[in-house]
Amino acid sequence: MVVHVDLVADVLRLEEQMIMKAVMEWARVRLVNLEEEALPLGRINADAAIIRPISMHRALYAASSYEASMVFTVNTSSTILYAGDKMLSYTRLIAHQIPVPKTYYASTPTAAAKAGAELGYPLVIKSPIGSWGRLVVRAKTPEKLAEFSELRRMLPCIQQRTLILQEYLEINNTDIRCVVVDGELVGCVARKARRGEWRSNVALGAATKPYPVDTELEDLAIKAASALKGFFVSVDIFETKSHGYLVNEVNGVPEFKGFMKATGKNPAAELSVKLYHKLHQ
Ligand SMILES: Nc1ncnc2c1ncn2[C@@H]1O[C@H](COP(=O)(O)OP(=O)(O)O)[C@@H](O)[C@H]1O
Ligand SMILES: [Mg+2]
Repeated sequence: MVVHVDLVADVLRLEEQMIMKAVMEWARVRLVNLEEEALPLGRINADAAIIRPISMHRALYAASSYEASMVFTVNTSSTILYAGDKMLSYTRLIAHQIPVPKTYYASTPTAAAKAGAELGYPLVIKSPIGSWGRLVVRAKTPEKLAEFSELRRMLPCIQQRTLILQEYLEINNTDIRCVVVDGELVGCVARKARRGEWRSNVALGAATKPYPVDTELEDLAIKAASALKGFFVSVDIFETKSHGYLVNEVNGVPEFKGFMKATGKNPAAELSVKLYHKLHQ
């Protein structure tokens, strides 16, 4: 029996190419480029769809389009939504008793000022939607927080006006990225921000190196992935002196270039094996 797997993307990065190559060993893979293809709702024929658009909303709507035709999606629209929106991720993680940084939701500059007084300074301001460190800023004083939140109030969409305020953690500008596939940890890397930058996004020039896994880190990464029902996700974790490991975010369309380079492990191959087993159960 031939298995049909759609790879849904908008840009073919190294990650998408590697996933295609791995899955093509056992399935007929069709590349669906959302820049050009329309999805016929309720009339898609495939056994599985690997959802890889860079844009979170494209990924979300692509996943739900496939789900309407009962196609197994990696990841599901629910995982992509909850992972892609930081408000939904933090609240879901907390509801599952997973430790996260101390965080407030504020929808106006007045509310933000109150949260700032509770958190103290410096603090971190984030938007629910965004990646690669965009819209993640640090306010060192109440005046700076007021400036940032007034500015955000002028932005066109609700997510950009929403303020997530968070304690600033002394983590040596480093976080730990863990890749989890179907309830198993593939590995972890530490990402250290480039000199002069506090945000450790690879897109902002961070360097990656392998990070030794301990059982606490492994359990936490798997628990976080499971809280969002992620089949193939990365979980970003802060290691703090005062509170141990804290989960910062889950990525529903994980990038793993830096991870691969640092660990020599191939998440695309791991995903392929797990998907094969899922479809042949
Ligand atoms: N509370 C925090 N304390 C210290 N550094 C943080 C905090 N939150 C985020 N950062 C840094 O900023 C980076 C980007 O923040 P993150 O929440 O991961 O947003 P994005 O989705 O854009 O990656 C993180 O990788 C981390 O290096
Ligand atoms: Mg991040």
